[in-house]
Amino acid sequence: MLRMRVCGCVIALWSSCFVLLAVAQVLIPSEVNALRAVKNRLSDPRKHLTNWNNGDPCKSHWTGVFCFNTVGADGYLHLEELQLLNMNLSGSLAPELGQLSHLLILDFMWNELSGTIPKEIGNMTSLKLLLLSGNKLSGSLPDELGYLSKLNRLQVDQNYMSGPIPKSFVNLVNVKHLHMNNNSFSGQIPSELSKVPTLLHLLFDNNNLSGYLPPELSNLPNLRIIQFDNNNFMGNEIPASYGNLSQLAKISLRNCSLQGEIPDFSRIPSLSYLDLSWNRLSGSIPSHRLSHNMTTIDLSDNQLNGSIPESFSDLPSLQKLSLENNLLTGSVPAIWWKISFSTKARLKLDLRNNSLSNISGELNPPANVTLRLEGNPICKNASIQNVGQFCRSEAGGDGIPDSSTNSTQTMTCPSQACPTDNFYEYVPSSPVPCFCASPIIVEYRLKSPSFSYFPPYIQKFEMYFTRSLDLSLYQLSIDSIFWQEGPRLQMHLKLFPMFINPHSNTFNFSEVHRIRGILTSWELPPTDFFGPYELLNFTLLGPYSNMIIGPRRMGIRKGILAAIITGAVASFVILSATVMLLITRCSRHRDRPPSRRHSSSKITMKIDGVKAFTFKEMTLATRNFDSSTQLGRGGYGKVYRGILSDDTIVAIKRAEEGSLQGEKEFLTEIELLSRLHHRNLVSLVGYCDEEGEQMLVYEFMPNGTLRDWLCGMKFPTFPVS
Ligand SMILES: *[C@@H]1O[C@H](CO)[C@@H](O)[C@H](O)[C@H]1NC(C)=O
Ligand SMILES: *[C@@H]1O[C@H](CO)[C@@H](O)[C@H](O)[C@H]1NC(C)=O
Ligand SMILES: *[C@@H]1O[C@H](CO)[C@@H](O)[C@H](O)[C@H]1NC(C)=O
Ligand SMILES: *[C@@H]1O[C@H](CO)[C@@H](O)[C@H](O)[C@H]1NC(C)=O
Ligand SMILES: *[C@@H]1O[C@H](CO)[C@@H](O)[C@H](O)[C@H]1NC(C)=O
Ligand SMILES: *[C@@H]1O[C@H](CO)[C@@H](O)[C@H](O)[C@H]1NC(C)=O
Ligand SMILES: *[C@@H]1O[C@H](CO)[C@@H](O)[C@H](O)[C@H]1NC(C)=O
Ligand SMILES: *[C@@H]1O[C@H](CO)[C@@H](O)[C@H](O)[C@H]1NC(C)=O
Ligand SMILES: *[C@@H]1O[C@H](CO)[C@@H](O)[C@H](O)[C@H]1NC(C)=O
Ligand SMILES: *[C@@H]1O[C@H](CO)[C@@H](O)[C@H](O)[C@H]1NC(C)=O
Ligand SMILES: *[C@@H]1O[C@H](CO)[C@@H](O)[C@H](O)[C@H]1NC(C)=O
Ligand SMILES: *[C@@H]1O[C@H](CO)[C@@H](O)[C@H](O)[C@H]1NC(C)=O
Repeated sequence: MLRMRVCGCVIALWSSCFVLLAVAQVLIPSEVNALRAVKNRLSDPRKHLTNWNNGDPCKSHWTGVFCFNTVGADGYLHLEELQLLNMNLSGSLAPELGQLSHLLILDFMWNELSGTIPKEIGNMTSLKLLLLSGNKLSGSLPDELGYLSKLNRLQVDQNYMSGPIPKSFVNLVNVKHLHMNNNSFSGQIPSELSKVPTLLHLLFDNNNLSGYLPPELSNLPNLRIIQFDNNNFMGNEIPASYGNLSQLAKISLRNCSLQGEIPDFSRIPSLSYLDLSWNRLSGSIPSHRLSHNMTTIDLSDNQLNGSIPESFSDLPSLQKLSLENNLLTGSVPAIWWKISFSTKARLKLDLRNNSLSNISGELNPPANVTLRLEGNPICKNASIQNVGQFCRSEAGGDGIPDSSTNSTQTMTCPSQACPTDNFYEYVPSSPVPCFCASPIIVEYRLKSPSFSYFPPYIQKFEMYFTRSLDLSLYQLSIDSIFWQEGPRLQMHLKLFPMFINPHSNTFNFSEVHRIRGILTSWELPPTDFFGPYELLNFTLLGPYSNMIIGPRRMGIRKGILAAIITGAVASFVILSATVMLLITRCSRHRDRPPSRRHSSSKITMKIDGVKAFTFKEMTLATRNFDSSTQLGRGGYGKVYRGILSDDTIVAIKRAEEGSLQGEKEFLTEIELLSRLHHRNLVSLVGYCDEEGEQMLVYEFMPNGTLRDWLCGMKFPTFPVS
């Protein structure tokens, strides 16, 4: 009897190891306090943050709060991401944010925040993405931001910020994207930026920057996009060294009060977009041939003289050439419309208000070439046939027409079978006819594309987007597009679930979170051609409307699992010998165990390959999860007693909606569990990962206590008395 008690004690000790470790799975108090301080500064008219009051931020799924899966060295969980995109929050940013020293992503985009950026943000030294676009923030950028040496992306565009770009940015040694457009930043662009070789995209347009353009920027080996439009570099020149930016895809210096000559950009092999319009550039246009990939050349509203370079008529991807309002002379090269266009291509040639007097060939452009010549002497030259039609000043036709891509299929599907008012619709390019499913709606914007006409590149975009999200092509539908000032291209995208069978017509929880996670953490691979993107909205309606809350990856269970593994390792090292010894002794003093223990050890032998059960098998085994078969419930969901078709009795843990994890994580966990064989641990028989369900199937231990189940995955197979 004494031995029995000792035995029980050891086991109790072991279990309490687990319990203690599990209890420590909470957010570190300093970060909980910081979150409270953040909330106190915010006004939340749509009540998104009402659940930021009770329980632990990680365990209670506070909106927008994402915690690391594993505890830190201090034994606590830490915040990984704060995602508060488009929640109509107003108020200001709390200085206490500085305490979130493990945070990777801070996203407050498209809210109504005002006030300044607190300098304490410089203490968030793990930060990779600082996303504050589209608020009403004012004041200047604190020098302390320079401490964010891990920062990959700084987005403060579309705010009311002023002051200079801090020189301390030279310390942002990992930064790739500086998006600071549409503010009132002023002063000189610091030449120190040229010492940050990681820089890819510099978007400084629509500010009040002045001084000169630092020639040193040409030392940036990776620079792809320069967009500085609508600043005032009064009287300065475009540095000739920019012609050495060998990776450049786009340079846009529209309306910058620049003078001097146009540098030679012909050595840049990937250049696609060149906009130097609305400056005071003079001299002639360099005649060297630009990249084959040029889509857009806008040199309008300058004081350029000389003739149109011959090489401009040999650019196969060209969509737009604007040379209006210059002093160009000579003749119009007719070779433009000799080169072949793809059927989706289009070319706009705007040569208005120059001094062009002739044409070198016949004036017979095809329908997909738009030519404007009014305001040139050529219009008065009666000897040129057809010239009149290109010299009329019709209204319109100047802007980039909005083109919507309506891939409306001519399907004859029964309309009642897919009620659109119910957030379902027929998937436009589904591989099976009349597949009715519910889309996720993504409002997406290309911030600085390297083209000016989308149709030729729609397919390329669709492939890029779906591949990046690991979706099939038919799962994306570009519902509409429209151009905005910038120019930027906004798109209304619909993402449909994969067709598996006619009854699976929504994404499951983990898919939604996977897709959202990729988009909100900017994990789409950067492309030069499509440029940086903005996520304006990720709308979850209808069947998805309850999915908005909760972590992207399942924090809690993984946390417990980590603790269990840590605990198990420690316990094994310290207690294993003792326990083994005691067990052997205990069992000698016990009644023979029930025969099931023998059968279970047989299963243990067999389980090397864990079995994947169908959902149907699970419903049969539990009589459709009848409450009479329920053994108990834990934080993750309920545990049922089930009988498999071969009469094996099993315990089935069925994860609840809020506890589901990504399929990959789930399978990794199963693999891990299947490797954790020990004769004193209960065995995993199989799992079910179907129909949006996640279940773990264990051998059934009639004498195991409920507490063991609730603790985690594993418990000793010996009975606890
Ligand atoms: C957002 O908040 C402002 C006040 O801050 C309010 O006027 C506006 O209606 C809100 N918009 C939505 C969509 O709730
Ligand atoms: C930032 O952290 C440092 C030490 O890590 C501390 O001395 C400093 O006071 C903190 N600054 C702010 C503004 O919180
Ligand atoms: C950016 O600023 C420019 C100039 O003020 C303005 O025309 C444009 O609409 C703004 N863009 C956005 C997205 O706010
Ligand atoms: C722009 O900067 C100049 C000084 O360079 C200043 O005088 C002017 O007020 C600023 N304008 C705005 C709108 O901030
Ligand atoms: C050029 O920029 C100034 C502000 O810097 C703005 O007022 C003006 O409207 C812009 N002109 C064009 C043609 O965009
Ligand atoms: C461009 O680079 C070459 C070689 O590195 C150099 O000789 C040349 O001076 C550079 N051009 C300019 C304008 O900086
Ligand atoms: C030009 O564009 C094509 C396709 O868009 C791309 O494959 C190619 O690499 C580009 N060429 C250069 C020199 O960047
Ligand atoms: C073009 O303009 C420049 C000065 O802006 C002048 O030196 C040059 O002679 C002009 N060339 C022609 C062909 O008019
Ligand atoms: C554009 O022009 C090409 C060649 O002239 C022609 O084959 C093509 O059909 C035209 N495309 C459109 C949309 O008009
Ligand atoms: C061409 O010049 C005329 C007269 O100066 C002007 O009214 C017209 O707006 C100009 N056209 C363009 C496209 O700027
Ligand atoms: C699709 O086409 C229909 C009919 O042409 C039109 O009414 C609708 O607005 C279009 N949808 C989009 C998103 O452009
Ligand atoms: C985002 O989606 C919500 C829900 O559909 C909508 O109310 C809101 O207006 C959208 N915001 C933007 C910027 O599209």
